[in-house]
Amino acid sequence: GRIGQSAFRSLILSAANNRRIQAMADRHGLEAGADRFVAGETLVDAMRVIERLRDDGMRTYVIALGEAIHSRQGAAAAADLYEQLIPDVAARGPGTTFSIKLTHLGIELDRDLALGHARRIISRAAEHAAFVRLDMEHSAVVDDTLAIYRALRSDGLDNTGIVLQAYLHRSLDDLIGLLPLEPNVRVVKGAYLEPPGVALQRKSHVDVAYNQLARTALSHAKFTAVATHDAQAIRAAAAVAQRTGADFEFQMLYGVRYALAQQMVARGHAVRICVPFGKDWFVYFTRRLAERPSNVLFLARNLGRR
Ligand code: FDA
Repeated sequence: GRIGQSAFRSLILSAANNRRIQAMADRHGLEAGADRFVAGETLVDAMRVIERLRDDGMRTYVIALGEAIHSRQGAAAAADLYEQLIPDVAARGPGTTFSIKLTHLGIELDRDLALGHARRIISRAAEHAAFVRLDMEHSAVVDDTLAIYRALRSDGLDNTGIVLQAYLHRSLDDLIGLLPLEPNVRVVKGAYLEPPGVALQRKSHVDVAYNQLARTALSHAKFTAVATHDAQAIRAAAAVAQRTGADFEFQMLYGVRYALAQQMVARGHAVRICVPFGKDWFVYFTRRLAERPSNVLFLARNLGRR
């Protein structure tokens, strides 16, 4: 039920911040079941997955997993990692794009620090004709994320895009405000725990808001990534896109509803799969668990089997 679902989300998402639970997960490693959602700990693992997906007709994007950074050194190291990663991946997997999380680049420490790192990464990507999207995170960083996106675009960096979360009350206004920039927008439902003042709480309401946000993007944005595994939302978006002639693709996460992704490719749609990799996979993993109660049973079975 509805209440069950949101209590479940709170429980799992707050467990993600618990050090002891994190330590337990580290001991069990990716074998605890995270390898269903994460390509592996290294770039070699990610490239292997990218090649397999490409054989199936999928586009891909890469995200290097990391945790929120609380030091300038950590933020610089995360930026260095991407600067090395981009030329490597661009050479071996042409057409692969990237996502970055601005919390990894220090946005919670200093917005201009994160802007500087993002500018460096996205400029390097431009040299390789690669595209880098700024993921959207918890609501406290949305204003700064949008400000960084605007600053990058006014620097002339057009190989970047944004994400808007349908559960936030503000997102439709944010989209409308961005339209003069001819944005490349990914539309998602939203994965963080947010209070009622900030975000819709009922799944049915989020589903309605998602369709509306996607419809608006598909009607007016330069490019829309319809990022969802919801078959109803996918059907609705395909119908809108056909009407508006939108430039768009579907996006899904590695390990989630792959049969649906294959179905969409078979129907002639472009589908891009998010391929996450890295040592800091735990927080990403818990967000995926929180999206579906049965995922936790799956985890419990895997831990039990060891
Ligand atoms: P919904 O939750 O309605 O799921 C539809 C169906 O898909 C479910 O019934 C189930 O069958 C299946 N499903 C969905 N999630 C599953 C899971 N984890 N495990 C197993 N089955 C699952 N969020 C954010 O806040 N910022 C961001 O930048 C991004 N980026 C992003 C990129 C891409 C490519 C995707 C697909 C998603 C994101 N998200 C995100 C996450 C997003 O906000 C949302 O939490 C998830 O996509 C789950 O919602 P759905 O839209 O899939 O619908």
